[in-house]
Amino acid sequence: MKTKKINKQAKLQQSANNAAPVFTGINKKALAKPTKRYAILCSGGNAQGMNNCINAFTKKCLQLGIEPWGVLDGFIGLVKNDFVKLDSIYTQLFISRGSAFLGSSRYPEFATDLSLCKKAAQNIRANHIDGVIVVGGEGSFKGACLLAKNGIHVVGIPATIDNDVACSDISIGFDSALNKVCDMICDTNDVFISHRGVVLYEIMGRYCPSLTVSTAIANNITYMVTKYSKLDAQGFIDIVKDAKNKHKQCVNIVVTERLYDNEGPNSLKQIAKEIEKATGYMTRHIPIGYIQRGGKPSARDRLLANFLTNIAINYLGKYKGPKAACVIQEEGKLIDLAKAVKQQRKSYNRTLVEEFNKQNKF
Ligand code: F6P
Repeated sequence: MKTKKINKQAKLQQSANNAAPVFTGINKKALAKPTKRYAILCSGGNAQGMNNCINAFTKKCLQLGIEPWGVLDGFIGLVKNDFVKLDSIYTQLFISRGSAFLGSSRYPEFATDLSLCKKAAQNIRANHIDGVIVVGGEGSFKGACLLAKNGIHVVGIPATIDNDVACSDISIGFDSALNKVCDMICDTNDVFISHRGVVLYEIMGRYCPSLTVSTAIANNITYMVTKYSKLDAQGFIDIVKDAKNKHKQCVNIVVTERLYDNEGPNSLKQIAKEIEKATGYMTRHIPIGYIQRGGKPSARDRLLANFLTNIAINYLGKYKGPKAACVIQEEGKLIDLAKAVKQQRKSYNRTLVEEFNKQNKF
């Protein structure tokens, strides 16, 4: 048993050093239950701060005399019975990395094939896990609801760079991604100021424009293109001409991903070419891409991860049905998970977009 533990810890250490993490399900057989056990899993697209949730979870469990367990690769690990016992000596190695060192995955089959959830619940019970914390976005919360329907005690923690979990004002990862985008635009700006150029920055967010909106405001961008303010090629050209008439050295436009085609006449690449042809200014399309989900978590996300994880663990101790640990008007709140999943984000973004684009005409 001792050798097994050392091997497992060596594997975690290996992952910390960025070597290929080769985790195996070390808990294939049901274990005798010595004490209370909780488990944590990360699900969906990774978000900076997930590792901070895992570390906070481990420390808090140990403080309460609860055994902390991690699930590898999100809901997939629940089904495959891939559980690892966590130790704060190792979890703390990852607190300044953006990855989810336990692994995170998208697993849409979990919602459609009900036998998968039954299997996951069986494994959780067989391992005597008393409560599960699911760290992720909207889709992950739906998976958590299914577990709850199968009798598992669950709490969701919102973590996604998109900030599209409607029940919480803020999701873990959003602040880090925003800082990353701001730094990247700031550096790229040096190039385009020198060349008096135009840039179309494509920003992640799926269908939620939060990251685009906050980037635009924080960077004094020339114009933001979101689902509320979509432009055709001529619209882009007009914005550029107008900004140049006002002596802007460099024109920065931010665009939420997925609004335009990847290739062809309706792609940002093609629109950039048309702007360059019509205005004579060097114009480039820059998809910012996965760098937004990598790198160190901001201090704010680290604090948020600690805050929400502690709320979630405390709640598991007096469990009364599935909940999501959220921030509402700067206060930690527990929201009914089924309601949280159905909630729609308030469209405050629309007002911000319209106001911002109007102001920047001057
Ligand atoms: O949900 C986070 C996110 O980064 C979205 O903003 C983006 O659309 C998506 O993940 C990209 O990830 P994938 O390639 O897995 O769809």
